[in-house]
Amino acid sequence: MNPFNEKARPLDGLIQNWQRLYPRPYDKREVDPYTKTRIILMNGTEFEANWFSHQFARNTVDNDLRRNLALVRDIEKQQQLKISLLKPKDESILEHTISYEQLAVDLTAELAKRELDCYVKTALDFALLEDFDHLYRYANLLEGEQGIDAEWLVGRYTEIMPGRPTISHHRYPFDNVRRSINAPTQDVQTVLSTMIITAAEQQTMNFYMNVTNFASSEAGRRLYQEIAMVEEEHVTHYESLMDAKSSWLEKLLWHEYCECYLYWSCYQTETDPYIKNLWEENLHIEIAHLKNAEELLLKYEGKEWQEVIPCGEFPAPISLHENIDYVRKILNDTVQYTTLKEDYAKIKDLPENADFFRLQNIVNPTVDIVPSHNVIENIIRKRGADYRYQVAPSPIPQLRNRREDNTSVGRKPDATSSTNFYCNK
Ligand SMILES: [Fe+2]
Ligand SMILES: [Fe+2]
Ligand SMILES: [Fe+2]
Repeated sequence: MNPFNEKARPLDGLIQNWQRLYPRPYDKREVDPYTKTRIILMNGTEFEANWFSHQFARNTVDNDLRRNLALVRDIEKQQQLKISLLKPKDESILEHTISYEQLAVDLTAELAKRELDCYVKTALDFALLEDFDHLYRYANLLEGEQGIDAEWLVGRYTEIMPGRPTISHHRYPFDNVRRSINAPTQDVQTVLSTMIITAAEQQTMNFYMNVTNFASSEAGRRLYQEIAMVEEEHVTHYESLMDAKSSWLEKLLWHEYCECYLYWSCYQTETDPYIKNLWEENLHIEIAHLKNAEELLLKYEGKEWQEVIPCGEFPAPISLHENIDYVRKILNDTVQYTTLKEDYAKIKDLPENADFFRLQNIVNPTVDIVPSHNVIENIIRKRGADYRYQVAPSPIPQLRNRREDNTSVGRKPDATSSTNFYCNK
């Protein structure tokens, strides 16, 4: 499929009335977990499309161009709102959060498995273990507060157990900046992956930023606050990988191409007929946006789309599915790593005065004030053990004890003896 070869509808015809704009929400008891995660992914993709356009408009003085951006941006906002309203009223913030973290796990794993660029793959594998741990922390909060077992929300496709413990995710911001890729010399799939994961993590960051003060308990407010700070790190981590040299109009073309690719992927993989239809409707909207971006690029920079995206043909569709063995392998191999400037290092190889330890001492002076640790300790106190869904014991022996929350793995030099390496740059 090459979206540049498709026929585009006129932009005005894409604006929808209030009746069409309000969708039928899914039934939270029947929906497939990956339908929910696709909805969150596309909500985040539309937010990025809209917000990128706002930033673009603030960086150009040409009002013809700004009017064009305003029109397309209005349509992106309609798309975003319609998709976000697929979430039903009776799904709580915390239940919805479980789907956010399931998306983070299974989207990251899917992108990492197919990634050809070793540096980008490592970045994905690295943050994968952190969102995997967030899922476990929120699942324990959900079980403790609402008596709901998150394994049913994730359809038992994703395990719920400790990853790299959240207490270990807090790094000095200098260590979250990666090297950016260079779009013209990269595989299309790599360029798309850096954009897709950045939009998804940004959506999670914004969601937590906005719901933290809506959490229904103090423990919840504290947990969202802590994990929101980690999502800030993840957005820095991923956005710094993205191509930074292209012009605004080249980036606009990439954004629309990426939206086309994702709706096409969702359409290919969706199991709910009503929502599959919505993905198709949105694919047509994006083809029109893409054609519009193509015309702008030609008009303002005299460039053909082939000079930016040499082969318009899509890579294989992104599909969301279980990745249990893959996550276990990455957990086993790399749980003891952190980042050191643009690269990765084992905790035991860091100098004593490393920024990582400095930041850890600032935010976690004692473990008993760390919300992600207290959530687990509270449930152990209440129920005698934490809440998990596992198909086998953790590959990391130190993370197997269900009566004590481990706060050393991923942050103390000899917390575990995993000995493997990431792929080389
Ligand atoms: Fe869009
Ligand atoms: Fe994340
Ligand atoms: Fe778009």
